[in-house]
Parts: sequence; C-alpha cells; structure tokens
Amino acid sequence: MKTSELRQKFLQFFESKGHQIVRSSSLVPYDDPTLLFTNAGMNQFKDVFLGFDKRPYNRATTAQKCVRAGGKHNDLENVGYTARHHTFFEMMGNFSFGDYFKHDAIRFAWEFLTSPEWLNLPKEKLLATVYAEDDEAYNIWLNEIGLPAEKIIRIGDNKGGRYASDNFWQMGDTGPCGPCTEIFYDHGEHIWGGPPGSAEEDGDRFIEIWNNVFMQFNRDEAGNMNPLPKPSVDTGMGLERMAAVMQHVNSNYEIDLFENLLKAAARETGVAFSMEIPSLKVIADHIRACSFLIADGVMPSNEGRGYVLRRIIRRAVRHGYKLGQKNAFFYKLVPDLVKEMGDAYPELKEKQTQIMEALRGEEARFGETLEKGMGLFNQVWRGMQFLKLESLLPVDGVGEPLKLKTADGIGFTV
Ligand code: SER
Repeated sequence: MKTSELRQKFLQFFESKGHQIVRSSSLVPYDDPTLLFTNAGMNQFKDVFLGFDKRPYNRATTAQKCVRAGGKHNDLENVGYTARHHTFFEMMGNFSFGDYFKHDAIRFAWEFLTSPEWLNLPKEKLLATVYAEDDEAYNIWLNEIGLPAEKIIRIGDNKGGRYASDNFWQMGDTGPCGPCTEIFYDHGEHIWGGPPGSAEEDGDRFIEIWNNVFMQFNRDEAGNMNPLPKPSVDTGMGLERMAAVMQHVNSNYEIDLFENLLKAAARETGVAFSMEIPSLKVIADHIRACSFLIADGVMPSNEGRGYVLRRIIRRAVRHGYKLGQKNAFFYKLVPDLVKEMGDAYPELKEKQTQIMEALRGEEARFGETLEKGMGLFNQVWRGMQFLKLESLLPVDGVGEPLKLKTADGIGFTV
C-alpha cells in the first residue's frame, strides 16, 4: 500500500465513524507562544480540549504536518542515523472533544489496524502499553479486545517524576495532557530489539505505531494537574512508520515516498543510490522540513524559527559537501518533493518557486561563507599540512558558527 493511499484510508475510516476531516494546520502555531513548531495533531485543537474554543463538530480526523527540531520534542540529532527519526513527519490523528473516550478510542484503533476491510494486520504482531495506574485501559485491551495479558505492558513514571512517563503524554511544560496507551508492531525476530519497558526497547524490532492519549488534565505553570472540562481523546499515528509496516520494510526510509526522495538526493549529489548512505537520508529528510517550513512562511534567519530552518538547510548542504557536491543542489530536490506530496498538500505546489528561491539563496550564502573561511584558512595556515575541505566539515554537528579542526587539532571558525 502506497503512503498516499494509507493517508487516505485513515481519513476515510474515521470519516465513516462520524469524524470531520479537518485540514492540517500550519507548521507555525497560531497564537501559541509555548510552541516553536507544530509538533502534534492536537496542537490546533488545544483550546478545544481546554474548553476555551468550540467547533461545530465533536469528532475530528487529520493528517497533520509536524516538525520536531527544536523545543520539547526534538529529533534533529538522530535524523539520518536511525530507521525512524525525522525532522518533518506526518501524524494521522483522530480526536474526540468530550465525546467518546477510552473504549471507543481503543476499539477504533484496533478495527482500523486489524479489520480485513482496512489494514488487515496480523493481530499477533501487535502489543500495547498502558499507563501503570490505568486499569480501565488495561481491562479494555484484555477483556474487550482480547489481547493476551503478556502483550499488555504497564509503564509507570519511568522518567524521573510524577507523571513523567512514556505513557503519560504532555504537549509541553503546560497544557492538556493525560495517560496514554501506545500500540507497537513487532517487525520480527530477525531484527534486534526488545518490547517496550525492556532493556532492549531502543532497538528497531518493536516500533510504536500509534499513541492514543486520554486527555484529562491541564497542567499549569505551578505543575498542578487541573481536570479538563470533559475527558477527551487525542491520537497520533506516524504515517511513515505505518507505511513501513504496510510495505514490509523496517526503515521509514525504504517506503515509496522516501525511496523517490533518496534517489533524487543521489542524482543531485552525483553518487550512486544506496540505502546505506546516511547523508542521503539526511538530505531526503531535510528537504521535506525545509520546503514545508518555507511554504508556511518561515524564512532562514538568525533567530527563532528562521534560525532552526537555517540550521537544517546548512546541515543538508554540509552532507551534500560530504558526498562531493560543491555546488548548490539542495533546491533542485523541490520538484521531486512536490511530485510526492503536492497533491496532499497543495501549498507545496503553490509555493514551489518561492521555496526554490529561498533555498538557492541560502545555499549561495552558505557557500560564500565556506569559501571565505577557506580563503582565510589558506592565508593563515599556508605551509602547514593541509586537509581537504570535506574532511574538515563537521557534518554531524549543526551548531553555528562552524567550528573546524585540522588533524593537528588547530581549530578555527567559519
Ligand atoms: N499527541 C500525542 C502524540 O504526539 C498523540 O497524538 O504522541
């Protein structure tokens, strides 16, 4: 099943269960100073959960653009080196605003995943975690869904504090939050990793595919948990992870959408395409974050959101350099991205030219900076053992300014 078909099926399923399909909100959160970027499907509904805003529907479903590259949920450093971390990703979600709660949320998720009419996943491949104190969710999995007890794992406050738990979701330091139940898929014995809660949980065998949050509290600045006006539901299913399951691959980078972007990255950097080159994954990941951010009005700059965007662009460009591409190339991947995602997100098509210009401008500026730095380097260190540019580039660091080092340990800054 192609990624685009999976996206469509999710929305159709929840529409058939009385949910309103709502468009993704912008990556720039509207009127919310607690957030740098939209990082979850529930962001656009925060005030609805809190009871400050009302909508003409009490069930909604979305495919939401998310960026986790700054702030509380930040995945940037892992990107390119793991099977499933991204700066930009799509979160499929269903939401209940004071309507259904734990029973229906769990039943809906199970039906979508296992019904032959929908995804038809083998039940024995699925496991669930629940918040340790949440007997209600535990019993729903055991008695209503029929999941064997050994496949329902209770996770308590495992992150050093009351409610600090993998199974207690919080949007930020304040705001709506609550216990959650997460659904995991077992990719099989041939892949290293253990079930959630075990010492090997960070391996790639058991992958979380869907988080169902039971929104019950509003955490305030003093850390008090104030009950929400009505218990609600916020869920998030990672589209890329789920596409990997449906396409029988273990890494998100092997799904149809990414394979095409990786090939475009190989073409533009002039290397032979291979799944084993982390730099290609970095570039394929970063073109999505950068293009979507620019489409939503963020421009590279030295502060705030623009600064994070600048760092992501420069990280991609440095990885291009590492592969031997010394000219501007990153902006040339935009048409490939538009081909993959422009139907689902028309803003990409509409803003294609602006995105390409912004990226090309930033690549040119960064290229000049590098050249200036190298000129300086030549002047100052002429006569010394000289390392080639690419061996000096700290491609894994994203900090600015660039700190370079020679083999002798002499540092300089670009
Ligand atoms: N808000 C929850 C999460 O981001 C569920 O969508 O995991």
